[in-house]
Amino acid sequence: MADALAWTNARLATCAPTRDHPRAVVNATLICADGKIRYAGPTDEVPREFAAELAHAQDVGGAWITPGLIDCHTHLVFGGDRSEEFERRLEGASYAELQAAGGGIFGSMTATRNADSETLFGAAASRLRTLAATGVTTVEIKSGYGLDTATELRMLEVNRRLQAADNLPDVVSTCLAAHALPPEYSDRRDRYIRTLTDELLPEVAARGLASAVDAFGEHIAFTADEIERIFVTASALGLQLKLHADQLSNQHGAALAARFGALSADHLEYTDSDGVAAMASAGTVAVLLPVAFYTLRESRVPPIAELRRAGVPMAVATDANPGSAPTLSLPLAMNMACTLFGLTIEEALLGVTRNAAQALGLQDRGTLETGQRCDLCIWDVERLAQIVCWTGHSFLKSVVRNGVITA
Ligand code: NIG
Ligand code: FE
Repeated sequence: MADALAWTNARLATCAPTRDHPRAVVNATLICADGKIRYAGPTDEVPREFAAELAHAQDVGGAWITPGLIDCHTHLVFGGDRSEEFERRLEGASYAELQAAGGGIFGSMTATRNADSETLFGAAASRLRTLAATGVTTVEIKSGYGLDTATELRMLEVNRRLQAADNLPDVVSTCLAAHALPPEYSDRRDRYIRTLTDELLPEVAARGLASAVDAFGEHIAFTADEIERIFVTASALGLQLKLHADQLSNQHGAALAARFGALSADHLEYTDSDGVAAMASAGTVAVLLPVAFYTLRESRVPPIAELRRAGVPMAVATDANPGSAPTLSLPLAMNMACTLFGLTIEEALLGVTRNAAQALGLQDRGTLETGQRCDLCIWDVERLAQIVCWTGHSFLKSVVRNGVITA
């Protein structure tokens, strides 16, 4: 078979939907060709057609193989730096106070508007490489620091260049122009929403610059009525939906996202039982962002037990951004999801693989199954818990993206 790669004497965390706990296959072999997984299962059941590949397979000495990690919520394209806000918060200022004083998202907005596209691209590519070194093979990137038509489009064009670049994780682009009300519209809220629905979103859809539209539903951002208008337009344009929901207060964002059939509702610290039930019936993924919870020193955790009981798929992401989640490590987010939110190791792993793929509407990745894209990580660990339990150390032996060994 052309361009075949094979690994044997492996342990597979397939992350596939199966009742077999913990979705692990020991004494396993994985064979990929033409960028797709051709076989993932017990070595003694490898079909005869793969005899040649098996004979040349690399013995990984019992190492664990997982799907390539998927970071399904980031804000990686931005200008400037907000470490000064970090210092202000150490002195007691809150995230909402900093934003009210023109900082927070507005600080990044000014720096992003002032940065040229080349600078934005170079900085984002470098951040993507750092994320990739933690095992990430697919990354979602939101706009949302332009907050005017020209700069929002420019951010999404940077996403497009990142998508086309070699040697970077696969990029999924989301339009988050409804991230905050820009100061020049402070007494014209309706006008800003109309700019999005009448100008920006149609252009984004026509040019294929994003596959989804996101919004920040919060007292410091947009109301449910405003988000509804955005969602109605985005849906009609064939764009998928996501929502920053109930992060700092209960705005009934989870229920709103579910009502529109959104792919995901993200954050969810203040989501109530009705929100959880609505997400469960709509199949909306709960994207947990524990690094933002940690950075902002929040005290209220998302309703994990209820989400679990209702069968809502839970994803875990970095939320990588210069303010509320300055990190470029998805395993760190997994660690915090377990330590701060009480996820199990298996939930954390499904959260950055199968459920993260679902949060992006991607069906071709997130599990080790025949026919899936060959995105995988080989980990030099005895137990998968080691990957999550340690911070600041990488157990990665090798990363394969789209059938190509990248690390
Ligand atoms: O996901 N919650 C709103 N948006 C981002 C923060 C972005 C920022 O602070 O720049 C978040 O935490
Ligand atoms: Fe975010």
